[in-house]
Amino acid sequence: MQRTYSLCVSQQRMPRNRTYLMCPPEHYEVAYAINPWMDTTAPVDAELALKQWERLREILTGLGHTVHVLTPEPFLPDMVYAANGALTVDGVAYGARFKFAQRTAEAAAHRTFYETRGWDFHAPAQTNEGEGDFAYLPGAYGGLILAGYGFRTEPPAHAEAQDVLGRPVVSLRLVDPRFYHLDTALAALDDSTVTYYPGAFSTASQRVLRQLFPDAVVADDADAYGFGLNLVSDGRNVVLNSEATGMARKVEAAGYAPQLVELSELKKGGGSVKCCVAELRP
Ligand code: ARG
Repeated sequence: MQRTYSLCVSQQRMPRNRTYLMCPPEHYEVAYAINPWMDTTAPVDAELALKQWERLREILTGLGHTVHVLTPEPFLPDMVYAANGALTVDGVAYGARFKFAQRTAEAAAHRTFYETRGWDFHAPAQTNEGEGDFAYLPGAYGGLILAGYGFRTEPPAHAEAQDVLGRPVVSLRLVDPRFYHLDTALAALDDSTVTYYPGAFSTASQRVLRQLFPDAVVADDADAYGFGLNLVSDGRNVVLNSEATGMARKVEAAGYAPQLVELSELKKGGGSVKCCVAELRP
């Protein structure tokens, strides 16, 4: 007689080697306020910011990933948030066009990086802030781009990204100014799984997310306010802000391996792990 047994094994999440781009906070300061986290009167410890950034880079290289470094430029204090410079998919780079004048010049630095390394670079006509507002899931629906709008990236940039990158783009409306970039409210945990904070999205966009990602890890207020969604995952190891301990437990329960990193100084500029790390997809 043949019997079938159902085995309950905890899910094994597989990491994939990644290539990242980061920019050291050598000229970092909070000199202007373009998001609700930035307070120009609060002191920033520049030395500590650099140390914390170095630690983040060490964690990523320690996990076996390659980290390229973009040369920081004076008077561009937000260059440390390297995720905002472009979105890349399969060797194609869709460049950024920043909303605020204070960051406009960062786009050229990123463009030079891609053009001098043989990427198929596309300069954008539309306002968009790169991976700040775009997330790519290569294993979802044959390769899907999620795109935020409402504060920085303009909806016409979503269509432009789709034309340039040849992947379907799903537009999601952000409604809470504290979560002004998509990457403060949603992250890819692996090629097909996301985690997100529903409160950052319009009711309609929440419905879209539930429909597309029924197995998503859903975050709560504390996770979001601790910048727990602003994470970098290689498919197994999830690097996230040290304040986000509840979020760490959540991703662990979902089978991932959380790694906490302290980024208190960079949080004062309105960013954390993911903001500092652009993924390069050659
Ligand atoms: N101060 C920067 C700004 O407001 C922070 C950018 C954070 N980056 C990110 N990918 N969310 O533009």
